[in-house]
Amino acid sequence: MPLHVIFLVTIIITLAPPPALSLSTSPPPTPTTSLPLLAPVRKDHTTLRYTLSVYLKTPPQRLDLLLHLGRRFSWVDCYSGNYSSSTYRHIPCNFSVCVPLDSFACGYCYDRPAGPTCSNDTCEYFPENPITRKVGLEDALLDALGLPSTDGSSVGRVDVVPDFLFSCAKPDLLAEFPKGTSGLAALGFSNVSLPVQVAEARSLPRCFALCLSGSRSAAGVTFVGTAGPYDFLPGIDLSKGLTYTPILLNPQGDTVITYAREPAATYYVGVTAVRVNGKAVPLNATLLAIDQESGLGGTLISTVLPYTSLQSSIYRAVVEAFAREASSAFNLTAARPVKPFSLCYPAGDVGVTRAGPAVPAIDLVMRSESVFWRVYGANSMVRIKRKETDAWCLGLVDGGAEARAAIVIGGHQVEDNLLQFDLGAMRLGFSSSVLLRGTTCAHFNFTTGNHA
Ligand SMILES: *[C@@H]1O[C@H](CO)[C@@H](O)[C@H](O)[C@H]1NC(C)=O
Ligand SMILES: *[C@@H]1O[C@H](CO)[C@@H](O)[C@H](O)[C@H]1NC(C)=O
Ligand SMILES: *[C@@H]1O[C@H](CO)[C@@H](O)[C@H](O)[C@H]1NC(C)=O
Ligand SMILES: *[C@@H]1O[C@H](CO)[C@@H](O)[C@H](O)[C@H]1NC(C)=O
Ligand SMILES: *[C@@H]1O[C@H](CO)[C@@H](O)[C@H](O)[C@H]1NC(C)=O
Ligand SMILES: *[C@@H]1O[C@H](CO)[C@@H](O)[C@H](O)[C@H]1NC(C)=O
Ligand SMILES: *[C@@H]1O[C@H](CO)[C@@H](O)[C@H](O)[C@H]1NC(C)=O
Repeated sequence: MPLHVIFLVTIIITLAPPPALSLSTSPPPTPTTSLPLLAPVRKDHTTLRYTLSVYLKTPPQRLDLLLHLGRRFSWVDCYSGNYSSSTYRHIPCNFSVCVPLDSFACGYCYDRPAGPTCSNDTCEYFPENPITRKVGLEDALLDALGLPSTDGSSVGRVDVVPDFLFSCAKPDLLAEFPKGTSGLAALGFSNVSLPVQVAEARSLPRCFALCLSGSRSAAGVTFVGTAGPYDFLPGIDLSKGLTYTPILLNPQGDTVITYAREPAATYYVGVTAVRVNGKAVPLNATLLAIDQESGLGGTLISTVLPYTSLQSSIYRAVVEAFAREASSAFNLTAARPVKPFSLCYPAGDVGVTRAGPAVPAIDLVMRSESVFWRVYGANSMVRIKRKETDAWCLGLVDGGAEARAAIVIGGHQVEDNLLQFDLGAMRLGFSSSVLLRGTTCAHFNFTTGNHA
């Protein structure tokens, strides 16, 4: 059981609401185009985590940030290589962006020359490393964020979102991040997440989509501020034919620094049953719901976890059901397991389908029998090839008996699936394997055109 130290650094502002953020003296430029934006997403094959490429500062610098679906605000290392930009600004402590988090820290600096990490009366945030749970206390900054625009099928010029809000962080907060990353891109439930800031700045819908690629050579993509189209070669619009389920929130925060009256920024979905090869797996259904008091239970999506993690009793039940169906319906006999997995099959015994190895499908059923996310072999199985071993292993891991969530859907299980987070309607659209539609998440055409 990990020890979680919870600091409640919370000063609740009960006075008059602070002024809205309008720091500029000249009227903001009215955008002539309000095309959605996109960012390429790459997988780091050492940490098995995903990075989002953006431009920050003036002149723009390319940064790779760890993609995180459960964080409120983005953060960037402002210390390494000296933060140099002509457009950055601090935020006075009494401005509203300091307050939506209901957590308030105001910074002063006496010991260094004024700069990005040294200012007086400046709003401060608590950036966290989601893996090590190390926390900082650092200045919040506004600076220019650049992302390519898109019409949904090709890439236009890089457009700037001025006054993008993020927190600084020290380089030691980057421990266990993919090599070359300089911060975290927050895509969680919050008014200051990267997608919501982009949508607000460009008057676009609060909606983003994620298509993760497992390919070593070709990037996947995230679309920001659009419900579609999402066109992939050869001309397949993945915004069509999605299945929808409500996005649920956990009222209990899951960060080290928690925020009064704010739910966790993590996206949950209401899985009510699991089926293997069409047959319901007997489970303790209590665990599948979020306990509103303790915050335990429920099903969330985390791309920081490489493989789906199940609470121990659910893990055992699903693995047992899978082994039974693999044997009876697919004539497969288990081989020696390879850690961290517990159920593997000799690769040579496993057939091949359009959606990966031929194994029993796993369905995550959401509320009604007909609403389910079907996980095919490409997403359920992991190929392990080393020395004398060549096996397909069931890519699930045991999250322990005391796991906070019942099911954490991890990165491997969402690759080559399109996920649409519609924060206006608070629903998740999911495609299941796009391999069955004849495309992959690496099939977005990143060649720059001139439509914008
Ligand atoms: C950053 O600036 C400080 C002080 O101006 C300087 O001593 C240091 O060498 C600079 N570091 C880099 C990497 O440019
Ligand atoms: C916020 O702070 C600025 C400068 O410190 C001050 O001029 C302004 O009156 C303050 N606004 C409020 C609402 O307190
Ligand atoms: C976030 O923005 C929405 C829409 O503008 C607003 O209704 C909501 O109150 C905001 N939430 C916070 C915590 O500021
Ligand atoms: C902050 O205010 C103190 C006291 O007025 C001053 O000594 C210090 O130089 C100021 N720091 C910055 C970065 O302006
Ligand atoms: C189901 O899980 C809940 C929550 O952990 C637990 O209190 C309950 O005893 C479990 N029920 C069974 C039948 O195991
Ligand atoms: C099942 O597999 C075994 C060897 O793994 C093979 O001998 C047998 O013929 C197979 N049965 C069917 C029905 O395919
Ligand atoms: C990719 O996009 C570029 C620029 O828009 C276009 O010229 C090219 O034909 C596209 N490639 C394919 C395979 O459609």
